Amino acid sequence: MQGCRLAGSGSSVPEAVLSNTDLEKLVDTNDDWIASRTGIRRRHVLAEGESLSQHAATAAQRALDMAGIAAADVDLIVLSTSSPDDLFGSACQVQALIGAKKALAFDLTAACSGFVVGLVAGAQFIRTGVYKNVLVIGADALSRYVDWRDRGTCILFGDGCGAVVLTTQEHEQPCSLLGCSMASDGLGQKHLNAMYCGEGMKPLHETHASARGAFDNIFMNGQEVFKFAVRAVPTVVEAALKDASMDKDQVDWLVLHQANQRILDSVAARLGVPSDRVISNLAEYGNTSAASIPLALDEAVRASTIAPGNVLALAGFGAGLTWASAIVRW
Ligand code: ACO
Repeated sequence: MQGCRLAGSGSSVPEAVLSNTDLEKLVDTNDDWIASRTGIRRRHVLAEGESLSQHAATAAQRALDMAGIAAADVDLIVLSTSSPDDLFGSACQVQALIGAKKALAFDLTAACSGFVVGLVAGAQFIRTGVYKNVLVIGADALSRYVDWRDRGTCILFGDGCGAVVLTTQEHEQPCSLLGCSMASDGLGQKHLNAMYCGEGMKPLHETHASARGAFDNIFMNGQEVFKFAVRAVPTVVEAALKDASMDKDQVDWLVLHQANQRILDSVAARLGVPSDRVISNLAEYGNTSAASIPLALDEAVRASTIAPGNVLALAGFGAGLTWASAIVRW
């Protein structure tokens, strides 16, 4: 089996910022409530006319630059997203924007677990010898689906993109993907969803208008999702560690989906990982769904918080319901 390694990371977020104070003008809330319940202070949101694909392409190019790999040499682009610019998929737009002419590009949807699932899927193409260079991007603009009158959800989400490059590992070097565990439970979909609510097909004689589709705003039962996260995430990280034949004491950094600081703290406590080993950038970005893990990872790498050789426990969780963990060596 061919080894693979993480060779670079990159990220990109919109410039426009919505602070907690800004949200006080939209809904009955306040900075204290949001910060103490979630840890979030600000979130970045796409401006009108700004595209998610452009930010995904910028994040991807930055990851390629760090890896020293040319876009022309990329074989595969996996774009994990639940909010593409194009319903048919945005990965091909990213491919065109960076000029990765020979790459196969496709979207993958697994909500906030999407990046970890994409990383594991992308790694398989390298391990089986099919491809050499794979870009895995997490990109979301859930601001497109937020009900800005619902204080239970609109305070949580922000937009952003993060990316990593996977490439072949030299012989005799260990594979960067040390272990993984992934799961889903469709029975929990009722707690977190954004359902199709467009028009159904009408008999042809009744309409000459074109059909118009739409997705509803995000619905979330916050308490149920909270309980699910603090129960499922420690279990899936432990399973991934077991798959890697490793112990929690060998983990240098927990890089979890940035949903809520209280969830990060609770997962760390349940795993027995000290809180100063948990990467958090929630205060600045909020919950950026599939982007949150690679965005947090990239910031920590560029700040030299995460160093070469560090062992990272990544874990995503969210709609589906889905949850997934990968143990990787940076
Ligand atoms: N400002 C002020 N008050 C609020 C707000 C707000 N923004 N939102 C809710 N409240 C009120 C409620 O109405 C309630 O008032 P009441 O007691 O008078 O009825 C009170 O605050 C407590 O509400 P709870 O829902 O119990 O608040 P909780 O402590 O559970 O925090 C939160 C809510 C932040 C949403 C939390 O449940 C949470 O983070 N859940 C997890 C969400 C998540 O992680 N999602 C990730 C997956 S996302 C994806 O996959 C797309």
